[in-house]
Amino acid sequence: MPEPIKLVRIPSLKTVTDFRNHVTSLGIELPSDDSILTGNASPLAQSVAQAELNGKRIGNRFAIQPMEGWDGTTTGGVTDDVLRRWTRFGESGAKLIYGGEAMAVRPDGRANPNQLIINQENKAGLARLRETLVAAHQQKYGSADDLVIGFQLTHSGRFCKPKDKFQMEPRVAYRHPILDRKFKVTSDDQVWTDGEIEVLIQNYIQAAQIAWDVGADFVDIKHCHGYLLHEFLSAYTRPGKFGGSFENRTRILREIISGIRSNRNGIELGVRLSAFDFVPFKPDPALSQPGKLGPGIPEDFAHCLPYRYGFGVNDQNPVEYDLTEAFQFLDLCGELGVKIVNLTAGSPYYNPHIQRPAAYPPSDGYQPPEDPLVGVARQIDVVRQLKPRAPKGIVIVGTAYSYLQEYLPHVAQAVVRQGWTDVVGLGRMTLSYPMILAEAIEKGSLSAKSICRTFSDCTTAPRNGMISGCYPLDKYYAAKPEAQKLKEVKKAVG
Ligand SMILES: Cc1cc2nc3c(=O)[nH]c(=O)nc-3n(C[C@H](O)[C@H](O)[C@H](O)COP(=O)(O)O)c2cc1C
Repeated sequence: MPEPIKLVRIPSLKTVTDFRNHVTSLGIELPSDDSILTGNASPLAQSVAQAELNGKRIGNRFAIQPMEGWDGTTTGGVTDDVLRRWTRFGESGAKLIYGGEAMAVRPDGRANPNQLIINQENKAGLARLRETLVAAHQQKYGSADDLVIGFQLTHSGRFCKPKDKFQMEPRVAYRHPILDRKFKVTSDDQVWTDGEIEVLIQNYIQAAQIAWDVGADFVDIKHCHGYLLHEFLSAYTRPGKFGGSFENRTRILREIISGIRSNRNGIELGVRLSAFDFVPFKPDPALSQPGKLGPGIPEDFAHCLPYRYGFGVNDQNPVEYDLTEAFQFLDLCGELGVKIVNLTAGSPYYNPHIQRPAAYPPSDGYQPPEDPLVGVARQIDVVRQLKPRAPKGIVIVGTAYSYLQEYLPHVAQAVVRQGWTDVVGLGRMTLSYPMILAEAIEKGSLSAKSICRTFSDCTTAPRNGMISGCYPLDKYYAAKPEAQKLKEVKKAVG
């Protein structure tokens, strides 16, 4: 019987040489510098030359990735918790705020009843949110002239929970042979009609107008993580004008952009793309016990080959990726005037190990089926393959760096210097240590006690109806009543 893998923990690797030896032992390629470079010597301190967004050059090479908090009002408005998170994003020193967090373009598209909604009612709150971030940045760094801010626009599709934290209300692009069972899709009535999609396209166009009105530099038209527009990219089996051919599966994006432009909305455009995917994974039942999740294994896919239910998947062996259509998608982005593409992978709902590599699984996940560094290297390598083929002038943002922990700056510097990515995007790390790269560039060292150890509490909390945040390392969350409840949940799941 296979054994769960024994992880070599990153903090046990005391030097860059130890880290490199471990990388070599895994058979992966992950460049790293010998030391953290400071000031102008750091590749991370250089501005992004190849494009201007809303008349601005992005002032350095690190970005805050979108991070949803499950903590808006029930009408999708901004709260103090949201303001605090965005203040910290502003203080991080990152000159690119890629999306802030997913904002639903309409109430029924929320992934949780406390997700922000980008509509007229919440316009003033969203303006204040952006201004708060800009002010925090300005206060710390003197100028925000090279700070570029986008809002991420979403509909949660298969993962909608708009009214109740525990009640799924999925609306899907097509019937899925594995995910339908897991996420309570039981009827064709839950599949969008073409007519409903036309209305949805208008919702995106209106949301982009609000984003422009309140001062966002760009909108991210989210195509990742299994949410609706990502799911449409794999709607191979869907009949009609939004399914089947590549042209049909990307029609929604083209119509949204054409509508934004015909409204004379000058906002810049970004797309966050899950460039590849795998079949859903589950904890190995043979190695799971009450209080202990087993290691991840793929769901049985033998009955659904060729696998036509994921974007960027090898349809003969869906635990491998195939970038053919990701290349095509990048070309399309160029044709449509998209200026910035943020590459990510998979979905946190059905294969978190490829999406956000972690040492400790979330409560609805599984123990790592591979060393999480393999997942980090996979995403970095895919960006490396896609970037040279991106149309000229598109800025590429890479993802999944948080698991690198102590060695995040060493790897980030090296990949930017070697041109593997334009910008390094940071997700979970910024919840515990928003200033990690600003501090690295300033001091040449990190504060070890603030480093995210990928405990996954930021995912486990919302999966169990609580707000997200870094409970282990951010005192603000550790002091909340949710912290105790979270401990109990984690104990029960193991
Ligand atoms: C709590 C949490 C919330 C997230 N919310 C979003 C989101 O709203 N939109 C999005 O595109 N990605 C979201 N992500 C994914 C991150 O942006 C990022 O892709 C992922 O965490 C991997 O990067 P990392 O290794 O730096 O954490 C979220 C991740 C976490 C942990």
